[in-house]
Amino acid sequence: MSPYRRIVILTGAGLSAESGLATFRDKGGVWAKYDYREVATPEGFARNPALVHEFYNMRRRDLKRVAPNAAHKALARLEREHPGEILVVTQNVDNLHEAAGSQNLLHMHGELTKVFCTNCRMGCSWTDELSIDIACPTCGKAGGMRPDIVWFGEIPYHMEAIVGALARADLFISIGTSGNVYPASGFVAEAKTNGAHTVELNLEPSEGVTMFAEAIHGPASQVVPAYVEELLAD
Ligand code: APR
Repeated sequence: MSPYRRIVILTGAGLSAESGLATFRDKGGVWAKYDYREVATPEGFARNPALVHEFYNMRRRDLKRVAPNAAHKALARLEREHPGEILVVTQNVDNLHEAAGSQNLLHMHGELTKVFCTNCRMGCSWTDELSIDIACPTCGKAGGMRPDIVWFGEIPYHMEAIVGALARADLFISIGTSGNVYPASGFVAEAKTNGAHTVELNLEPSEGVTMFAEAIHGPASQVVPAYVEELLAD
């Protein structure tokens, strides 16, 4: 069994690519089709809430036609079979980690299947269409429901727990992320400073590849199960 006892795994859109969900910065990715300032900022939502709702309604609809791939399943297996602490910190807002069985999981950028009311701040699960006409189930006011997604310029969720986990980690694995977006792109430096071994599993070298002690490149559905197999066999 591997010597590692406290493993933190950061995942990004590349993990869900082979499930059929588009990544953001690859050719033909989400930000090649939509201007993030229009659909993923509080200012964009204030300017044109209907456009933002349609963007997330489309992505919520996409969720209903996709399933976890071998990489999601391998991470859930690692959590089940490895004796150490396994924490997945995902930038993804899809629910494929949960669908594959991962439980110790933090969504630092929020979740497509959650919404909240900007009037009373109450949140709830939501898998259908959202619009400005929909009244908040808690306060009854319409016009204020928004996706529970962390937009550009907003503070990611669970940062205290994440920084604490990075301080204790002895292995940090980054999977399917381009290393373009802070604070996630800074996690490898945090983990490294605290003495963790750092590994990048990605289709191709990310922006931060030189920060990692080890890098294995290839499709997540191949490189992640292989790496998990190694961790469980050691
Ligand atoms: N297997 C492994 N990696 C892949 C695969 C695959 N099949 N396909 C693509 N990748 C890699 C790409 O090489 C790229 O490095 O996944 C990464 C995807 O990068 P981005 O599209 O930038 O996605 P991500 O890093 O998750 O973006 C971070 O930016 O837009 C915001 O909030 C959004 O959470 C997102 C954040």
